[in-house]
Parts: sequence; structure tokens; C-alpha cells
Amino acid sequence: MLDVRTQAAPIGAPVPTEWTRKDLLDTDTLSADEIALILDTAEGMREVRSRPVAKVATLRGVTVVTLFYEQSTRTRASFEVAAKALGADVVNLTASGSSVEKGESLIDTVRTLEAIGADLLVMRHGKSGAPYLAARNTTAGVINGGDGTHAHPTQALLDLFTMRCHVGDLAGKKVVIVGDVLHSRVARSNLWSLLASGADVTLCGPATLVPRSLHGAAAEEGRCTVSTDFDAALEGADVVMALRMQKERQEKGLIPSLREYIAGYQLNARRLALARPGALVMHPGPMNEGIEISPEVAHGLTSVIEEQVANGVAVRMAILYLMATARHA
Ligand code: CP
Repeated sequence: MLDVRTQAAPIGAPVPTEWTRKDLLDTDTLSADEIALILDTAEGMREVRSRPVAKVATLRGVTVVTLFYEQSTRTRASFEVAAKALGADVVNLTASGSSVEKGESLIDTVRTLEAIGADLLVMRHGKSGAPYLAARNTTAGVINGGDGTHAHPTQALLDLFTMRCHVGDLAGKKVVIVGDVLHSRVARSNLWSLLASGADVTLCGPATLVPRSLHGAAAEEGRCTVSTDFDAALEGADVVMALRMQKERQEKGLIPSLREYIAGYQLNARRLALARPGALVMHPGPMNEGIEISPEVAHGLTSVIEEQVANGVAVRMAILYLMATARHA
């Protein structure tokens, strides 16, 4: 594998032969080796980020387009920082202000971006599956930056990277994911990458917010359990990840009230004490402090929530690097 720490390997240099995918659409088809390759590469990128001049020219000549049909702070900004840190040219597009507002289709949009010279397309879309449609209609590499309620692979990979930094090998470690699993693309992508890494996963939430399909997956897998009892689920947990609770869930009748949700499922100091001592606290953001997580826990000693955001740059650098260099192999 190319050592990014030696910097500036131009396009055409030896590439990591292990990475062969054109697109990164979800974690469900990634092998443990592919996941390890991304995380190991991200270690090198983190070292690059720690330098006084935290930039290299490795992706000079590569054009990365971020195409966001939905709001984002972390994903969009960190992909832009990551691409620039590797010397790529970056074009940022949102649906608002682009020809999408005039009715241009997704397929026409991605073909237009390809014609302009996009090598890699980072895409977020409100409809599940949209990045798959895009990927089938462009030669550019497509990276899913979050699609509907389906998948958010780069978030799952930065979450895994952050866990690995603190707890080491995930094999046999217990990770509890709590909250609105039903609508969470983060939970889905985390489930697949955690299981591939050997972790035991507990999905926890009100019965109305943990989908039946995952009950089935849990039963088949054996290392994934589903629980509606948060206190019981926390026993022996090495990592607890709270998910954002969207207030409109109550309007749709999926939870009786936010007050009852907080009573049953808020990650607070009393509950955290039920997990293993020193259990990591995680949240993909944006947080509703005081709802799914209490402020004291969100900003407590074992919270790595800000670190997740920082690691997002290194992990996204790794993904851009692997995908761009494989394209030019
Ligand atoms: N976690 C996450 O995807 O955050 P953004 O919506 O801010 O990108």
C-alpha cells in the first residue's frame, strides 16, 4: 500500500491493490479487509492532518464534486476539507441554486458533472437509493454522503475509526445504538460495519422505532440483538451511541410524547453508569441536547462526539485517496 505519510505520490504511482470499487454506497458489502484498509489509511491521513502544513498534493488534478440535495454541516464541510487537504480541486453544489431547481433530473445532473470533469462525486439525497441510480449513470466514482433513511457509510466508517482509536480491536466489544433506529441511515450503516468488525451490537429504542427488518437481521446474525429496555441493554456496553430524535416522530404518532421518550431512552449520567466504566459516548450529530442525550453526558469525560467530527476529515481523506488512486491504476 502507498504510504501517504511519504506524501505527494502522483497519480500513476503504485496504488493499494486491495481497493477496487468504483463507488462507496454503503458498508453492507464491504469486507472486513476493505474496512481495515480504509481505517489503516485514515491513520496515515490523521498524521498528515497533524503536520504544521496539513496538506499534500497527492490528488492534484483530481476533481471532487460535492452534490448535496439535503442539508449538511459535518459531511459536506469535512469532505471539502479532506479533498483540499489532498490537493484535489473541489466544486460544491447544492440543489438550491443549481439547475435542479429548473427541473433537471438526477441522471442529467451527474452526466453534466462528469462532462465537466468530475472524478469523484460525493452525494447526499433525501431519497433512499438515489446515489445508486447516480452511480449506474456515471463513470465518476460516487460516494454516498447519506441517502434518505438508507445508508451513511462514511459516517459509519468514521464512527468505527473513533471506536478503534479508543477500544482497539472491536471483536467481542458491545456497542449499543439507541434511539430512532427506524429512520436512521447512520444506525444501518454502523450495524453492517460493526458486525463485519466482530462487534456485538444492540439496537435499542421504542418498538415503533426499531424496524421489523432489523429484528430479522438480528435473529439471523446472532451478534446483533434488539431491545426496548435501555437500562438492561446498557449492561456491559463498551460504547453507547445515541441517535438524533426528530421531533416530527411524535407528530406521526411513533412516540407518545418527547417527555416519555426522554424518560425511557435519554442517555444521561444515571444510565451511562450502567455501562462499563469508561464507556465511550458517541453521537453522529446534529444533537438535540436534553432529548436523546443530556448535556452533561454529551460533554462528559468519555464523550468522543467532537473527536468523531475531527476524525471525519481523516477518514474521508482516506476514502477519497483510495478511490481516486484506484481509478488511475
Ligand atoms: N452526521 C451527519 O451526517 O451530519 P451532517 O448532517 O451535518 O452532515
